[in-house]
Amino acid sequence: MIKNNVLIVEPAITPLSGTIEIPPDKSLSHRAAILGSICNGKVKINNFSSGADCKSSVDVIKNLGINIEYTSNNQLIIYGEGLKGYSEPINILDAGNSGTTIRLMLGLLSGCDFYSVITGDDSLRKRPMARVIGPLKEMGAKIYARNNNKLAPISVIGGNLTGINYEMEIASAQVKSCLLLAGMYAEGETVITEPAKSRDHTERMLKYLGANLSEERLKVTIKQQSELEPKEINIAGDISSASFFIVAASIINDSAIKLTNVGINPTRSGIITVLNNMGADITIINQREVTGEPVGDIIIQSAKLKGITIAGDIIPTLIDEIPIIAVAAAYAEGTTIIKNAEDLRNKESDRLATIKLELSKLGALIEETPDGLIIQGQNILKGGCECDSHYDHRIAMSIAIAALAAEKTVTIDNANWIRISFPNFIELLDKLRDKDYDKQVF
Ligand code: S3P
Repeated sequence: MIKNNVLIVEPAITPLSGTIEIPPDKSLSHRAAILGSICNGKVKINNFSSGADCKSSVDVIKNLGINIEYTSNNQLIIYGEGLKGYSEPINILDAGNSGTTIRLMLGLLSGCDFYSVITGDDSLRKRPMARVIGPLKEMGAKIYARNNNKLAPISVIGGNLTGINYEMEIASAQVKSCLLLAGMYAEGETVITEPAKSRDHTERMLKYLGANLSEERLKVTIKQQSELEPKEINIAGDISSASFFIVAASIINDSAIKLTNVGINPTRSGIITVLNNMGADITIINQREVTGEPVGDIIIQSAKLKGITIAGDIIPTLIDEIPIIAVAAAYAEGTTIIKNAEDLRNKESDRLATIKLELSKLGALIEETPDGLIIQGQNILKGGCECDSHYDHRIAMSIAIAALAAEKTVTIDNANWIRISFPNFIELLDKLRDKDYDKQVF
């Protein structure tokens, strides 16, 4: 339980076991709300994330004049008004802590011929925005931002865009998605090429809603669109949330758990490949497709992990999972080297620095490099320390899992930040720890 913003994690004395359903995917929920709002009519979204980040997207869209209702059971109804349906906001739009909200919405705001200003919380106002402002200006949007056009708050006067041919410097789904959204409003064609493949949820959902979009390896092309079809959207469970339990069950002896309804899109599931290479025991069953996205149930049994090198094109497919992979590595035999992950310094916190700092407090042997981490695995970490989330949901949950496998109780300050992506994290973890919970897995 989190009390007064502090989470106390007692070491797990028994294995984790049981079956739980993984909550809705954050990336998909953002996209469903954002694309739903520009469809031509009513869009029902089932299994929408209850995390604070997705609420930021919903609030921004509402402030652009779109009617949105939450009904029971995590269902959202959006009354889309078409591509030109937004109206000029009367106040500053607030993306909160959410990079996906601000960057994707900047793409749409650039297509709208009115004035708007968008900003976010202390963390978001420090995150780099030039990566989207540059190409959006090339397309014709008038954008002004703090710190020489690099940081939020950002003001936009959109409209009259022209398609561009853009080579991205970093693999980023937020940048790619922002430009695809702007591309729908731009005269002609917008062609975007990535250095490595980042998550393709926007491409899949746009196609599902009838957009004219084509893909050829690292290149995506979108033509100016006149409309998107209003269709029901079902959101799969979040593999990034599942990852905390996948690692927990792998490192806590004799565990066996099943996670149901997890998105296993190959552009997101790098963590499964990496953990399998480390020797994990992971089986995916019941594979199916939900709204154009691959989904499955995942069974994890504990296993002795070994260190490996993680680098190159796989990095974008596990970018959000590096903190929890570092935890797996801290309990593995041998050395794990993570390279080419410098963009982790631009997330909700500088995740290379914060995971190094916090895991070291538990006794992990971890070294920070300019673009990654080097971790010497150990059998057990001592724990018995006071950690901090650094206002970063994924750091809080990664440390909670590291603490579960440690010798002594760990406290985590600023633990409320978990609500950003995974409000029922503690409740689900408690179920897997509870010996009276239904233990059926196989
Ligand atoms: C996201 C893309 C990634 C990821 C973030 C969500 C998305 O960011 O880290 O949590 O939903 O498109 P980048 O595009 O900055 O790599």
